[in-house]
Amino acid sequence: MIRTASVVLLLLAAQIADSQNFNNTGKEFVVVFPENIAYYHPTDPINEIWVTALHHNTRITIEKLNIDYDHMSAGETTNYTTDLELKKPDIPENSTSLNVFSISDEAIKVTSTKDVVVQAISLRKNSVQYAPVIPSHKLGTKYFIPPVPGLEESPDDGAVVVNVTERGPFRLIIVNPGEDQANVTIKGEEEFGGAIEPGKVAQILLNNNGQYQYVEADRPVAVFLSHPCAFQDNCTCGLLHAMVPAAKDDKEEFLIPPILAEQASILLSDEKSRTSTDSTAAVDSEGTVILHKPSFLLTLMSKKDFGSCFVLTSLRYLIKSFHIVVHKDDKNGIYIGRNPAGYTDWEELKGTDYVSTHVSVTFPKAFLWHNSSVMAVYLVGEKNGRMYGNPAPVVSSIPDYRGCVVTPEVIEILDEEKGWKESIKSCETKHLDLISLSDNRLQKQLCSKISAKGVKEAWIGTRRSSLTGDWYWLNYNKFNDTNWAPGKPGKKDQGQCAVMSLKPDDDCSWKDKNCCDAIRPFCYKPPEFLPM
Ligand SMILES: *[C@@H]1O[C@H](CO)[C@@H](O)[C@H](O)[C@H]1NC(C)=O
Ligand SMILES: *[C@@H]1O[C@H](CO)[C@@H](O)[C@H](O)[C@H]1NC(C)=O
Ligand SMILES: *[C@@H]1O[C@H](CO)[C@@H](O)[C@H](O)[C@H]1NC(C)=O
Ligand SMILES: *[C@@H]1O[C@H](CO)[C@@H](O)[C@H](O)[C@H]1NC(C)=O
Ligand SMILES: *[C@@H]1O[C@H](CO)[C@@H](O)[C@H](O)[C@H]1NC(C)=O
Ligand SMILES: *[C@@H]1O[C@H](CO)[C@@H](O)[C@H](O)[C@H]1NC(C)=O
Ligand SMILES: *[C@@H]1O[C@H](CO)[C@@H](O)[C@H](O)[C@H]1NC(C)=O
Repeated sequence: MIRTASVVLLLLAAQIADSQNFNNTGKEFVVVFPENIAYYHPTDPINEIWVTALHHNTRITIEKLNIDYDHMSAGETTNYTTDLELKKPDIPENSTSLNVFSISDEAIKVTSTKDVVVQAISLRKNSVQYAPVIPSHKLGTKYFIPPVPGLEESPDDGAVVVNVTERGPFRLIIVNPGEDQANVTIKGEEEFGGAIEPGKVAQILLNNNGQYQYVEADRPVAVFLSHPCAFQDNCTCGLLHAMVPAAKDDKEEFLIPPILAEQASILLSDEKSRTSTDSTAAVDSEGTVILHKPSFLLTLMSKKDFGSCFVLTSLRYLIKSFHIVVHKDDKNGIYIGRNPAGYTDWEELKGTDYVSTHVSVTFPKAFLWHNSSVMAVYLVGEKNGRMYGNPAPVVSSIPDYRGCVVTPEVIEILDEEKGWKESIKSCETKHLDLISLSDNRLQKQLCSKISAKGVKEAWIGTRRSSLTGDWYWLNYNKFNDTNWAPGKPGKKDQGQCAVMSLKPDDDCSWKDKNCCDAIRPFCYKPPEFLPM
């Protein structure tokens, strides 16, 4: 009997934790700024690190810039400027091969006491690129290298050749954010590699021969694809820079907003589907999917990495618009700060159930979130006709009708079967409350998350006065929204307490019960939200 109960609990816990939980938040980041040539413009680069705090009293420390700022508040964004950037890779004299593994130590470590989001912006004259920085604990050890995009946009065609070191070929930038040396190998037709000390960066020049290649490391590393001077006009050139997401375990679906896909090619990087394809609305890949058009590289988000809350508070003057991709049934739940966004101009992604819109912005000092679903958001800017963009950083992928979740809620259906009053105490010892379901949106939201096979029912935090028969919530909220099962509750001299059904087809409906029955409690702690 007891053994069955604990097996059931394990099952239940697994089911609650199983929900999508991708985000870009963390407490440790390593930022690098790629070399940005901006040819013939002897202006200094402006490299910025943007940090957005999600909790009050966050302390951030940035090594090398000597920054130690100890009271960021929730929702606050600060930026720090540095001129530290990667130098030209060291290419051995007379080198006949591109297998160059050039190490430098211009990486900058950002640490914080609580979860934050970090973005890096690289700006020099008209050449702008930026990227969310992936927290160190979420990096991978295998990365497919996307096919190197053609640089057909260069007006003096043919001038961009690999042996003009000033421009050079595309390069991989590999950062070792860890405490131990990482051994990194580039695998493919030709294999080569090297060791990267903790906190250091390797630059590796890439062949443009279309062959299949991937990076394999014995420790988690970050990988970027970059070109310091990828396209040219009016005697200037521009940086191209994109983050490369880690290889996936399985094929995942990537959805492409039609507007961005216009005249773009899609760079696929896994072994089976390597070649660039013409633009379609959806592609499958276990590797990286990067949208490419002249002067523009945009890393696409896999459907599994969609989020429900994004930082827009970035790039005040740099961002012109953002693009949203969401399921066609979920167009209406999008908010900017406190206000429903009310977007109407949706375009279908052909052959899928998804739609997309793009929104021009002038005040992106806010958070964008969805009250019941997940979506993709891309930030896109333009300077002098050149586009740049990246996925907006994901704060959370746990949708909640109440706002933007920064600390997930806790749902626990405890093992111990006790009376209603004792169950309040059982929850308290875990710093949780016996749940009050005074809002039926909460009821609905939770019901979609729990499907406890084997557990029939659990106590909820309501009981009735035996005198008046009126029901009360433990959190003192009004007893308005109810979800009684048909025919329930019974008469006031029947059960004085209530349980929620956890059986699959019961819609989490309630029944009155004798308070002394031994039943498991439904304990709960609400999430923490970003103040808006
Ligand atoms: C960075 O912060 C400074 C104030 O510290 C502000 O003047 C500047 O405009 C910010 N940069 C951007 C790009 O917003
Ligand atoms: C590079 O080649 C030149 C001419 O062949 C030679 O004199 C020089 O020693 C070589 N340098 C290296 C480092 O091999
Ligand atoms: C530079 O590259 C071009 C084309 O790849 C090649 O024809 C030329 O011989 C190279 N020049 C040198 C000095 O290696
Ligand atoms: C990393 O490579 C070095 C030599 O390149 C080797 O001595 C060391 O054992 C390697 N470390 C691991 C963990 O494989
Ligand atoms: C190039 O320079 C000309 C003259 O200054 C200007 O009219 C044109 O807009 C510039 N083109 C770009 C793409 O910046
Ligand atoms: C989400 O927002 C939309 C639009 O404001 C609203 O109609 C809908 O009821 C909301 N959903 C929930 C679960 O609150
Ligand atoms: C972000 O992801 C981590 C796992 O990497 C998770 O522990 C954390 O709860 C997530 N944060 C939010 C707000 O979902």
